[in-house]
Amino acid sequence: MVDVSVVPEQRASWSGKLGFVLAAAGSAVGLGTIWRFPYLAAHYGGGTFIFVFFIFMLTLGVSLLVLEISLGRKTGESIIVAFTSFGKKYRFIGVFIAAVPFVIASFYGVVGGWVTRYMFAYAAGMTKELADGGENFGAFISDAPQSVAFMLLFGAITFIIVALGVNGGVERANLIMMPALILVSLLIGIYTLTQPGALEGLKYFVVPDFSKFSLELLIAALGQTFFGLSLAAATMVTYGSYMKKDVSITSSAFQTTATTLGISLLAGLMIIPATFATLGSADEVAKNSGPSLMFLVIPKVFEKFGGIATVIGFVFFLLVMFAALTSMISLVEACVSILQDTLEWKRRQALLVTVIVLSVTGIIVTLGYSSLSFIQPLGAGSTILDLLDFLTSSVMMPLGGLLMCLFFGWIRQPKVLIDEVRLSGEFKSAGLWSVMIKYIAPILLVAIFITSVLKTFGVISF
Ligand code: PHE
Repeated sequence: MVDVSVVPEQRASWSGKLGFVLAAAGSAVGLGTIWRFPYLAAHYGGGTFIFVFFIFMLTLGVSLLVLEISLGRKTGESIIVAFTSFGKKYRFIGVFIAAVPFVIASFYGVVGGWVTRYMFAYAAGMTKELADGGENFGAFISDAPQSVAFMLLFGAITFIIVALGVNGGVERANLIMMPALILVSLLIGIYTLTQPGALEGLKYFVVPDFSKFSLELLIAALGQTFFGLSLAAATMVTYGSYMKKDVSITSSAFQTTATTLGISLLAGLMIIPATFATLGSADEVAKNSGPSLMFLVIPKVFEKFGGIATVIGFVFFLLVMFAALTSMISLVEACVSILQDTLEWKRRQALLVTVIVLSVTGIIVTLGYSSLSFIQPLGAGSTILDLLDFLTSSVMMPLGGLLMCLFFGWIRQPKVLIDEVRLSGEFKSAGLWSVMIKYIAPILLVAIFITSVLKTFGVISF
């Protein structure tokens, strides 16, 4: 007889291609897509930023996605064990990248909590209060018990879904939330475009003005490619490790990228033209295009819609919450699978430790707006959240991406992964892909990384 206590838990797998693509797109499409992309686009001159972002996504983005998915599927492991399987001395690459989902989840849940609170506030009919230009928002984020409660509520929903397992929880949640999200963003996008003055804003949003091109724009577009596609964050490797051997990696990666690009554009369409119409000029949009765009300006935009404002506000924040949830789920799933595979823990034990760790770090980040607001790590007025956001999207993710490219470009050969991709179909652009991993991506990443570090330390300015 087999002693069941020593039989390892069998690795879960997605039920098919759709399950994978919806989960991967669910991870990719999140606050980064709906909140960060529109304000970056607004800030960097609309069409010009979009143009550069598209190029990055369809070259570097897809290539890295193929790399991560195939690494996960080949090894059937999450990031640390995946790298260790190529030799103990490469474990550090896995460990470095494994830190990313823990750090992102710590601040992602906080913003998720803000979104949840806005959804409830609209449901309670607080349309006017939310549109007061920031007082209500400021009071909320600096109210420690309230903001901690909403962060924990958002976290609890995530943990319950992850606890239901890869198929019963993660896959099913994405199967419901992703189509809903696409449909609702289409509806709101169309509605806002019919508002007076919106077409002028649409022009600003889509027509590139290349005089706006700058090195800073390039860095921002690169950071958004990493953050927006959940790259170098251990999540796509974990999701790849649940992929069956007969599902095409190339077309999955392409569909995931295309969905993310499509929803980014829709999010921009929902937000930029209407904001343009409300604020009156491109300069005003750019000036107001910080992180506060979604929480301060959008409610003002909605208020102008009259009686329907409350419904639109509620549906919009419900949609943003869905987007944030599917990403948070992928972050937590990555943390759980890392602990499970690396320490050979049971899933339950790994989940419990993840819940405890992320609750504590999430509370610390939330308090960064109240009792811990004296900690201003990036200069006056900055918060712990700003630091963690900067550390991950501008430093750790590009560096993690670089390490992966150098590893599969030079220490091992790209062929190791190309063979895995070919198990489930043709890989016609394998040659191009190798050039990308070996040369283009590393050169681009090193160049941009050095420039941004030099800029941060004031050695150069632009
Ligand atoms: N891609 C997510 C977003 O755009 C964020 C994310 C990054 C999720 C890394 C998982 C891993 O919101």
